[in-house]
Amino acid sequence: MMVLRVVFVVAVVVGVVSGAAVCSDCDGPEPVEVVTYYESMCPFSRKFLTTQLYPTMKLLPDNVMNVTIVPYGFAHEKEENGKWVMYNCQHGPSECVGNAIAACVLNMTSYESREYMPMINCMEVNTRHGHQMEALSKCALANNMSEPEILTCYNSTEGSQLHYQMGQITHAGHIHYVPHINVNGQHSKVIQYNAYNHLLEVVCQLYKGPEPAACKARQQATLVG
Ligand SMILES: *[C@@H]1O[C@H](CO)[C@@H](O)[C@H](O)[C@H]1NC(C)=O
Ligand SMILES: *[C@@H]1O[C@H](CO)[C@@H](O)[C@H](O)[C@H]1NC(C)=O
Ligand SMILES: *[C@@H]1O[C@H](CO)[C@@H](O)[C@H](O)[C@H]1NC(C)=O
Ligand SMILES: *[C@@H]1O[C@H](CO)[C@@H](O)[C@H](O)[C@H]1NC(C)=O
Repeated sequence: MMVLRVVFVVAVVVGVVSGAAVCSDCDGPEPVEVVTYYESMCPFSRKFLTTQLYPTMKLLPDNVMNVTIVPYGFAHEKEENGKWVMYNCQHGPSECVGNAIAACVLNMTSYESREYMPMINCMEVNTRHGHQMEALSKCALANNMSEPEILTCYNSTEGSQLHYQMGQITHAGHIHYVPHINVNGQHSKVIQYNAYNHLLEVVCQLYKGPEPAACKARQQATLVG
């Protein structure tokens, strides 16, 4: 039963990640889908999340850009006493902790990027030296999330299945580096380069609807960053 449920959730999330044909407003233009596979302590992941993805999200409404993040990267999982344990994370044990916390935060916010990104951004800004638990206290407080609830999830068998699912989704994504960015279900070196460096520009160019204010503004201002 538990296995079935996990398979179901993975199927749903993989559907989301692969940009399955679901539209919230079928009459309007589709939002540009941006999916990011990342690792919590990877400097390039941290840079992309905090200087491109989150700032761009703040500029564009949900009907223009639809964000999904998958915290896992090149981690490994093993089963211990019925619980999935993440190990051998690229940037050390604290990265495994950060990935697992992120998986809990995503689930606690029903995978709604608008809800989880402020918290995830705060964690990525504050965990440069790997002090995940200190960052968690600070960021939970700043974002009105329950630290005890996150820790309970983090320590639980159910919580371990959440990061295991992130691993399954990541494996299905066939990534070769992190962050790995898909735009509208597509990935290439050019897409990766442009999204990593100028996400707003990429989304503005792809969006088919009426030009959002932030896109208009960017043409007047000199591109910074
Ligand atoms: C974002 O994409 C997912 C998967 O395609 C979809 O379920 C969700 O409704 C989209 N959100 C918006 C605001 O379009
Ligand atoms: C903080 O979260 C609690 C519980 O989720 C909610 O009742 C409250 O309105 C939130 N406060 C703010 C300022 O968002
Ligand atoms: C989580 O488990 C660790 C040991 O693995 C323990 O030190 C900590 O107190 C636990 N936290 C909660 C909230 O249960
Ligand atoms: C994941 O989210 C669901 C729905 O909000 C909740 O029922 C479940 O307890 C959460 N899982 C964990 C481990 O927190």
